[in-house]
Amino acid sequence: MKLFKKKDFDPSEEIEDLYGPPIAPPDEDPIAKAKQSERLYGPPPKRVPDPIPEVQVMECIYGPPEMLADPEGYRLRNHEPFFTTGEILPFLRGIPSSKTTDTYRKLKSCYDAIRKLTRFIPKVGLVLGSGLGDFAESCVEIVDIVEYSALPDFPLSTVEGHKGRFVFGYIEGVPAVVMQGRVHYYEGYPMQDVVMPTRLMSMLGAQILMLTNASGGINTDFTAGDFMLITDHISCFSPNPLIGPNVDELGTRFPDMSEIYDGELRGIVKSAASDLDIGLKEGVYVQLTGPSFETPAEIRMLRTLGADAVGMSTSMEAVAARHAGMRVCGISCVANLACGLTDRPLTHAEVQESADKAAPRFKALVKESIRRFGKISFV
Ligand code: HPA
Repeated sequence: MKLFKKKDFDPSEEIEDLYGPPIAPPDEDPIAKAKQSERLYGPPPKRVPDPIPEVQVMECIYGPPEMLADPEGYRLRNHEPFFTTGEILPFLRGIPSSKTTDTYRKLKSCYDAIRKLTRFIPKVGLVLGSGLGDFAESCVEIVDIVEYSALPDFPLSTVEGHKGRFVFGYIEGVPAVVMQGRVHYYEGYPMQDVVMPTRLMSMLGAQILMLTNASGGINTDFTAGDFMLITDHISCFSPNPLIGPNVDELGTRFPDMSEIYDGELRGIVKSAASDLDIGLKEGVYVQLTGPSFETPAEIRMLRTLGADAVGMSTSMEAVAARHAGMRVCGISCVANLACGLTDRPLTHAEVQESADKAAPRFKALVKESIRRFGKISFV
């Protein structure tokens, strides 16, 4: 008869493979043990969080050793945020804070850099679209100019014909900041960077934002050279610029967009257009990412969705501005009929040429609207 020795065959191993480790007998049950210990000795002391190692705190405030050796090079290579002690401690404890995000850091560094160059406080922000490029030279009593290239982390426009600077000064006596050159999503910047200039204008004091652009007309009643007052927009074909930790200092997490283009401002632009005898259509603007123009099928789809004009900017800026509590107004110059509505292929040169042709009337309308905005009481 063959005898099994325990070392050759241990049934408990097989059982453990099949059913897992044995259940602890009641006297070894950790919960029961803890309860018994609490009965005997009272509740256990509250757990104090481990202190954050000093070296970790120092590194987050001052940066790692290689950064201290070459701060500028390190910052460029790593885009490492710099923090103050008050900002970093909640971050280290795992508490989310907009102050620990790249978005906040970039805004703060650009704001600080602008404030070193100008003390001007604008009431109105104006973004110049195609055709209005030289508005600043002809219609602004210029006080200060800040080149985008002087601002650390500022997205630089790569589009030909778009200058890159903030012009501070008076438009018909109204203190304004003018963006001469905007950044587009198709240039490859994250959407949070695309709206950084808008947010900066708000941080600098602007309470009203006038957005201008050139667009393709989808509405068959439109002709090239028309102006369209933007009544609403469709922005859901592009990433929302507010994605990411909310910048609480600017606005709420879930901002209302029910009247994104301010009713009172629209009324003012309409009366200015009427008094200047400038035709003004109204409609819904849709922003696509570009840079390719749309296909005829896409234009048919956009018309079915209720869009009147299509472009590659503006809606995102409007969303960021509303988030920051600005009152927004938008005028689009319908530079061409959208794809499929003419038999000619679209070119950027045609858009630019048409926008340039409409520029004198566009400038007059923008200038007069801003003069009238100046009569609104500001907070
Ligand atoms: N489509 C998109 N963006 C535009 C157009 C267009 O037809 N015209 C001017 N910007």
